[in-house]
Amino acid sequence: MKPEIVEPAGCLIGQIDVPGDKSISHRVLMLASLADGESTIHGLSRGQDVKHTMEILSSLGVQLDEKDSDVLHIQSGELKEPSGKLYVGNSGTSIRLMSGMLAGLPFSATLDGDESIRKRPMERVIEPLERMGATISCLETAGMAPFRIDAGGLKGIEYQMEVPSAQVKGCLMFAGLFATGDTTIIETTPTRAHTEELFEEVGLDVDITSTSVTVKPGQPKPFIHKVKGDPSQAAFWAVGATILKGSEVSIKNVYAGRERNGFIDVLSRMGADITQDPVTNDLNVASSELVGTVVEETEIPGLIDEVPILAVAAACADGETHFKGLGELRVKESNRLETIVSEIGSMGMKAEISGEDLVVQGGKLTGGQVDSHGDHRIAMSCAIAALVSTDTTEISGWEAVSTSYPGFIADLDALRK
Ligand code: S3P
Repeated sequence: MKPEIVEPAGCLIGQIDVPGDKSISHRVLMLASLADGESTIHGLSRGQDVKHTMEILSSLGVQLDEKDSDVLHIQSGELKEPSGKLYVGNSGTSIRLMSGMLAGLPFSATLDGDESIRKRPMERVIEPLERMGATISCLETAGMAPFRIDAGGLKGIEYQMEVPSAQVKGCLMFAGLFATGDTTIIETTPTRAHTEELFEEVGLDVDITSTSVTVKPGQPKPFIHKVKGDPSQAAFWAVGATILKGSEVSIKNVYAGRERNGFIDVLSRMGADITQDPVTNDLNVASSELVGTVVEETEIPGLIDEVPILAVAAACADGETHFKGLGELRVKESNRLETIVSEIGSMGMKAEISGEDLVVQGGKLTGGQVDSHGDHRIAMSCAIAALVSTDTTEISGWEAVSTSYPGFIADLDALRK
């Protein structure tokens, strides 16, 4: 594929709807597939990641009926053994959440994904699922996809998470629906709370404290859910509008729940003009001068996917920005700690990695030739950086953007003035 060419922009002006939240989309699809009856979902994410979850559910016998591009009806029933491997593509959320659900179902299934997924750590879900009684065999490399999950009874456990991960928490919560007894997940650093919020919404029995979630076995009730806008996608426009002088952007109806909007706090601290309307959830942003800040390790789970675009903000700020404790970024769609520095670095950002920290010096961006490394968020961060650069930027591997935001360029063209 040809590289995407992004020219510098004057400013960004207008209103925009970002895609439906990706994390919520995976979870509502899975809950609807387990419910007893027909559920309706509006505003699902249309990226490849969520398509993979839909395809997997369809291979398990779930009927997914798209009335139009915004509404999906899901008729569940008895789930059946799939005839072939279940393929998640690039989607870490699909493979980790799905392994929890499959561990509870009365048949065998094999999960696999693309080259990037095959390098990402799966032991973090395999180990606790095995403790619950699941039988899981890695088919090529220990602790990695592809792996087969064989049918077997699950029992509830109490599990203290080793890394703050909403994917691990969600995986174990889905498994807990099929276990005998309670499943408790203890987290010392809070992570995004979509699974627990949605479990409550569909009538499941969950007990939430500030440091734990306990799930009882159960079946969701059919439901109607309207997926709100994805804060991780809104963050690109929020940073773009902040760093491009004269910009004013309103991002409509953005999800505002726990541990998803840490980027708003960081941008505000840096001096951004950004507010979220408490009634409409619209995120309103106008351009502003930024200063560097320190982002503490405890803040990272609440902005884990926004570090690449916050690095772009930091590159345009006055002074130094220090992000602490970014070890988890090494095992995302790319080794993001490295790809942030190599790609945004080749556009002029001055940054260095110190242990698990990233230190960015504010300055000027020049543009240049960059590569996505198959990582949608690196590609889109470079595209926003390109808008304030002095020269043109060529982004190779742009197709990665389709995993979460196929309409990114159309939205950029609509806002660019
Ligand atoms: C997600 C959780 C995060 C995030 C990912 C989506 C989720 O991963 O990076 O893009 O939907 O639960 P971890 O919780 O594993 O850090």
